Amino acid sequence: MKVAVFSSQPYDLKSLESVNQTYGHELIFFESKLSAKTASLAAGCSAVCAFINDLVNEATLRALAAEGISLVALRSAGFNNVNLDVARDLGIAVVRVPAYSPYAVAEHAVGLILTLNRKLHRAYNRTRDDNFSLQGLLGFDLHGKTVGIVGTGKIGTCFASIMKGFGCRLLAYDLYPSQECRDLGVEYVDLPDLLGASDVVSLHCPQTPETHHLINAETIQHFKAGAMLINTSRGGLIDTVAIIQAIKSSKIGYLGIDVYEQEADLFFRDLSDTVIQDDAFQLLQSFPNVVITAHQAFFTREALHNIATTTLSNISEIEAGRDCPNQVN
Ligand code: NAI
Repeated sequence: MKVAVFSSQPYDLKSLESVNQTYGHELIFFESKLSAKTASLAAGCSAVCAFINDLVNEATLRALAAEGISLVALRSAGFNNVNLDVARDLGIAVVRVPAYSPYAVAEHAVGLILTLNRKLHRAYNRTRDDNFSLQGLLGFDLHGKTVGIVGTGKIGTCFASIMKGFGCRLLAYDLYPSQECRDLGVEYVDLPDLLGASDVVSLHCPQTPETHHLINAETIQHFKAGAMLINTSRGGLIDTVAIIQAIKSSKIGYLGIDVYEQEADLFFRDLSDTVIQDDAFQLLQSFPNVVITAHQAFFTREALHNIATTTLSNISEIEAGRDCPNQVN
C-alpha cells in the first residue's frame, strides 16, 4: 500500500524502512504533523500513518477522504487524537499499536520517581560545576512507601511489578481490577482513598472524556501533603493550572511528567532557539521539584521495532481485506 507517514523523525524512518523490507509497502515520509492543512501531502496514497500529536479531527479526516485515503494507521497505543465516529462515517479504518513495550513506559515512570526523589537532575548539574555539597539533595527510601497506581493495564501492571521489587505497598484504582495485579499484592481501592494514602501516585489510564482532568483542584485535595505525582500517560489527565497551584502551596511535593496538556505545540521539536509562549509550561520548568521529559517514555529500541512491525502488519491486514484485531473503529 502507498502510505504517507506523518510526523516522521529520522528514527521512525530508520525503523519503518528496516522492517518494511519484509512487508514491501511504499512509504513516503513527511516531517510535518498531520492536520487539515497538511492532509493534501497524502495525495496519491491510500493510507496515512500518524503519531500521537497529529490532529486527526473531523476537518483532517474529511480532507483525507477527499484525497482517497481509506486507512489511518496509528503508530501509537492511544487514539484520543482521532475522531473515530467521523472516520467510521467516512469509511476510513483506524488501526493502532495496542502494545509495543509496556516495560519502556513503566521503566521511564520509575526513572522519573528516582530522579525526583534523589534529585538526580540537580545533582548532575551540581557536580559538573564542582559543587559537591549535599544540601538540598535529601531523598527518602522507597522501601516501605505506598505507591498508588491509576490504571492497571499493561503498563500499570509492569510498573506494579517493578515497584514491588522496591518493597513498596501497592494500591490501585481501575474500573476493571486485574487478577495479575492482585497476585502481585496490589490492593484495589477507590480513587480518593488511593490519593489519600499514597506517597507516590502514578497515572497509567488512557485519556477519555471520563479521565480528562482526573487530577484537578478537587481531587488534589485528597492527596497526602507533599506527595509525588507521575504522569507518563496523557497530558490531559492533569489540569495544569490546578497542579501549578498545588506545587506552589506544597500540597504536591514532586511532579514528574512525560506528557503535557499542550504538548502538541512543543514536543518532538528543537525549540531551543525560540521563546516558548506557553507560560504555564515555563512556570513548571522553573520549579526545582518538577521534572519534564518530552514524551520519550516509549522511546526504546525494542519499542520502535515493535511499533514498526505492528504498524506495517496492520496495513497489510487491511489491504488484504482481513479482519485486523488492532482496528479501533
Ligand atoms: P491498557 O489499555 O493496557 O490499560 C489501561 C488501563 O486503564 C485499563 O486497565 C483500563 O481498565 C484502565 N482505565 C480505563 N479507564 C479508566 C478510568 N476511567 N479510571 C481508571 N482506570 C481506567 O493501556 P496501557 O498499554 O497500559 O497504556 C496506558 C496509557 O499509557 C495509554 O492509554 C497511553 O495514554 C499511555 N502511553 C504513554 C506512552 C508514552 O510514551 N508516554 C506510550 C504508550 C502509552
